[in-house]
Amino acid sequence: MSDLIHQAYDPEAFRRFGHELVDLLAEHLAAVRQNEEEPAIPFTSPEAEYAFWQQDFQHNRGGSPLGLFASVLERSVRVQHPRYMGHQISPAAPLAALASLVDGLLNNGMGVYEMGAAGTAIERLVVKTVARQMGFGENADGVLTSGGTLANLTALLAARSAKSPSPVWQEGHGEELALMVSEEAHYCVDRAVRIMGWGEGGIIRVPADERYRMRVDLLEEYLQKAQREGKTVVAVVGSACSTSTGSFDNLEAIADFCKKHGLWFHVDGAHGGALCFSEKHRSLLAGIERADSVAMDFHKMLLTPAVATALIFRDGQHSFRTFSQKAQYLWERETDEEWFNLAKRTFECTKLMMGLKAYTLLRTYGPELWALYLDRVMELGRQFAALVQETRGFELAVAPQCNIVCFRYRPDGLEGEALNALNEAIRQALLEEGRFYIVKTNLRGSAYLRVTLSNPFTTEADIRELLSSSLFVANNEQPTTANKTKP
Ligand SMILES: Cc1ncc(COP(=O)(O)O)c(C=O)c1O
Repeated sequence: MSDLIHQAYDPEAFRRFGHELVDLLAEHLAAVRQNEEEPAIPFTSPEAEYAFWQQDFQHNRGGSPLGLFASVLERSVRVQHPRYMGHQISPAAPLAALASLVDGLLNNGMGVYEMGAAGTAIERLVVKTVARQMGFGENADGVLTSGGTLANLTALLAARSAKSPSPVWQEGHGEELALMVSEEAHYCVDRAVRIMGWGEGGIIRVPADERYRMRVDLLEEYLQKAQREGKTVVAVVGSACSTSTGSFDNLEAIADFCKKHGLWFHVDGAHGGALCFSEKHRSLLAGIERADSVAMDFHKMLLTPAVATALIFRDGQHSFRTFSQKAQYLWERETDEEWFNLAKRTFECTKLMMGLKAYTLLRTYGPELWALYLDRVMELGRQFAALVQETRGFELAVAPQCNIVCFRYRPDGLEGEALNALNEAIRQALLEEGRFYIVKTNLRGSAYLRVTLSNPFTTEADIRELLSSSLFVANNEQPTTANKTKP
């Protein structure tokens, strides 16, 4: 066999690179936490970035992989940085990142039991733990999927199978199917509807109230209207919480409505579903245990590397009914509901050993770690909102319900497009400067700055500095003039 193949699989080289890599990552962790000079994002344009990697490929072939890893660290957004406050993803607990490495080397496929015995059993344990924590009974069951988007689509396929008048999987459907969801829901629900072939008319957007929560008082009226138009509504999707503002729909009210009309109730808990692990904040999810299905991401609020999502069904049997397809080479008994042959229940055939990341944390630190983390980042959300309210010139879009906070800088007299342009300019300047990473969102035609406070090491000084930097950009004056409290 060629030397190159031996070299690529050499256990000693792996040991050496592995030790060096862990050292490099540990230094990275320490630096982003302690070194004031470290940016949260080293912003470059897409073209410049691509040019860099073209050069790298041209000149560094055969070079040390450690040099490559160092460049990747250097050139990537630092989710571990206390001033990273951008899109919803938690800084991975280092131990969970090591679990990803185990997954990577083992490369178990997980589609059938033999291709991932440990991973399959661990997945079941993790799913059952989440289900119990959400308040579901022993019949609840589910799977892990690669992300909330896929979990939501899978749940809605189950809803279609369960509630469509036609045997959809075998024959398709003649009815015009539809679901109802808040206008504030994540775009993946809209996408799922279109993937299922229901088209534009298949998504009925229910208006949200002044706090961006679904107007549950309108559900009855919207259902009747849809029925008059000849639609067969099969499901209602509640958001726990919405993406833009972190608003939690009234799940109890949606559960009552679904029960009354025999509809499927799905909860998109990709972000906030994790709060079932916090005694202090779980009341935001009241009613979740009445849902037919729930999606919850581990990578957003439970410290695991992306991606890992739990899809829970209140009646675990539904997880088998979504897909019923012949793949005899994989399964001996097609119709058996074997919990251990995971590809019977998900889109994915080969998939990651996702449960290991969550289980490693659960087994090592207990659910207390998640509870403490959640309480900490929720408190940061509250602190930041209070600071915005007391800082002259800044205002909240809405009082936040969790660690997602939308705000803007609004100098006296500035309105409309000029106000939007100013806040967009603030976000762009912060991005290019790199000390903070925050994002922006558009709420009912107005541009807002948006943070998701998901790093437990973010301090009050960091959030104060974010406001002063925003003000500095806006006024083009010294940051020391910021943070004046309101008279
Ligand atoms: C409410 C909600 N649902 C679904 C998603 C999509 O999840 P994922 O990125 O894991 O596919 C997001 C992502 O931001 C979200 O906020």
